Amino acid sequence: MRISESKIEEIRNSANIVDIVSEYVQLRKRGRNYIGLCPFHSEKTPSFTVSDEKQIYHCFGCHNGGNVFKFLMEYKKISFIEAVQELAEQLGIELNYDESVREGQSEQEILFDINTEVAKYFSNNLLNDEEGQIARDYFQKRNIKVQTMRAFGLGYALNGWENLVSFLKQKNIDLEKALQLGLIGRNKDGRVYDKLAGRIIFPIFSPNGRVVAFAGRKLREDDTGGKYINSPESIIYVKGRILYGLSFAKDEIRKLDKAIIVEGYMDLISLYQAGIKNVVAVSGTALTDDQAQLLSRYTKNVVLLFDADTAGISASMRSIEILLRKDFDVKIATLPSGEDPDSFVNKYGKDEFEEVIKRSENFLEYQTAYYEKQGMFNDPTKAAEAIRELVKPIAIIDDELKRNLLIKTIAKKFNLREKLLEKELEKALEQEKKTARTQTQRIYKEEIKSAETLIAPEIKKVPPQVYNTEKEIIRLMFENDETIFELISEQIDPETLELEIHRKIFSKLQQYYSEEKNLNPADLISLFDDDTQSYLREITIEQYTISQSWLENHPSVSAENNLYRYATDLIIKYKQLIIDIKISANLKAIENADSEEIALKLMRENLDLERAKREIKSLLLK
Ligand code: GTP
Ligand code: MN
Repeated sequence: MRISESKIEEIRNSANIVDIVSEYVQLRKRGRNYIGLCPFHSEKTPSFTVSDEKQIYHCFGCHNGGNVFKFLMEYKKISFIEAVQELAEQLGIELNYDESVREGQSEQEILFDINTEVAKYFSNNLLNDEEGQIARDYFQKRNIKVQTMRAFGLGYALNGWENLVSFLKQKNIDLEKALQLGLIGRNKDGRVYDKLAGRIIFPIFSPNGRVVAFAGRKLREDDTGGKYINSPESIIYVKGRILYGLSFAKDEIRKLDKAIIVEGYMDLISLYQAGIKNVVAVSGTALTDDQAQLLSRYTKNVVLLFDADTAGISASMRSIEILLRKDFDVKIATLPSGEDPDSFVNKYGKDEFEEVIKRSENFLEYQTAYYEKQGMFNDPTKAAEAIRELVKPIAIIDDELKRNLLIKTIAKKFNLREKLLEKELEKALEQEKKTARTQTQRIYKEEIKSAETLIAPEIKKVPPQVYNTEKEIIRLMFENDETIFELISEQIDPETLELEIHRKIFSKLQQYYSEEKNLNPADLISLFDDDTQSYLREITIEQYTISQSWLENHPSVSAENNLYRYATDLIIKYKQLIIDIKISANLKAIENADSEEIALKLMRENLDLERAKREIKSLLLK
């Protein structure tokens, strides 16, 4: 399938990157750009930048970036063609395919397709196969309706060694890829076999509803495997970045501005069936940073509803800290002992469940109650330890008012001296500050490093002034201004640029412009290899701003002419700089000259250079 270049351009020009990105990332305006927390790596301070003027995005932390298509591809893990299709649909632009050429599928695409086929196969086993009766009975016993099975794509893997293997062969699916996805295994003598045989199947979806993995739950007593077997990680499945059920829950989470986090697949499914749809499941572990990041796109309010057993409590404790670091408001709900959300909602129904959520406590009350139950406040040494533990999460909270309020609450509730808590809080805050400082330092270092690591070996050989002036010239070429582009193009010979990366960029831009007469910054950037693109995004994403001191020195220049005059000055400065470098090289050579003759020649050359330097200004400002 092929979409014409002009169509792609039309779609790109109709879409605004700020609007598109805003659907997935909370952006706020800073200067001429928009910034937010990067969806591609975990961070606490925003380094993800979107430029309205240049229609590109760039993260100064992880260097991910590109145009609107690239964003969708990366974010949704889809192919270029799919990103184009999706945008076209959203914008109401009709696509005319040239079916004669088939675009090659990406590796990810192929894996998604395999998983989709296999999910359909498992689902069909559950709903229609004779052997599926055992799974149908099981679900019925657990009060799961057929409609729910369909909604969540639940399935059943036939019992045996090669049922799935035969299906894959019959569908001509690459077995190596199925191995990669962990759908099948290979034993010592090279035979492939079904991995989830005889189990009920939960497909695991990406936030956009694509099947990235499967979980198989044990059904038979004689199955010696674990209760659940999950697909291994693959290029389409990074465990810590997936929240089970998010694709089903995200709209409701956004609408209610609240998410309930449970442990198990069955918990989520039963709650959903009962009409509680703002739920995600962590699949039996503590929440990860990336999962919290993912969730923060939809809400900042979370209710943790983990089992009341030791594993559940410790998972809650760890999750609280991770969520607080991402500025979540965290509450904890508890069920009567022996119940999990699935059993509870089936026994008592939706209304009772909602009462449980309403009664959820602030994380601190929960933690305090927990320590109290353990009798820690009765023993002075243990009490001190408990207080230190309690104060730690408070120190993570940015808002001072909130912190004080929390201190007061626990002091009162547990009859503790407020002063004591405050003193511990001070210590914890100190510690927290240190952690935060090293974190920002790290980000800052990365930022400085990023653009220049690409050219690091070269940059050290060039005086900073030269590097900066060259960089400014390159930046000006991305301002989508014909007059300025042509001026620079006429006045500067790319061969005189000191840095190879600049020479390469300059020449390519000249050539492209002469052929296409197009100066769209996003298009220009896309002409280069990945590293160069990253460098270019970094130096150009900030719109060109004229320095204040220059403006003060040129009060008579009109606003429209500003950039042109500024560019002229920059070119003059650059040319003079090059001459200065030659002159000082000559001066050095004169000192070390072997003969009078050579020295004299160099001096003459320098006189010519001085003259040329003086003339530059008059030539350019004609
Ligand atoms: P049911 O017992 O059928 O109600 O399942 P459950 O989802 O309630 O299971 P449980 O409460 O025991 O565990 C909660 C979650 O932890 C599960 O949904 C799984 O995601 C995960 N889990 C539990 N046991 C295993 C296991 O043996 N292996 C793996 N990988 N995950 C597990
Ligand atoms: Mn359960």
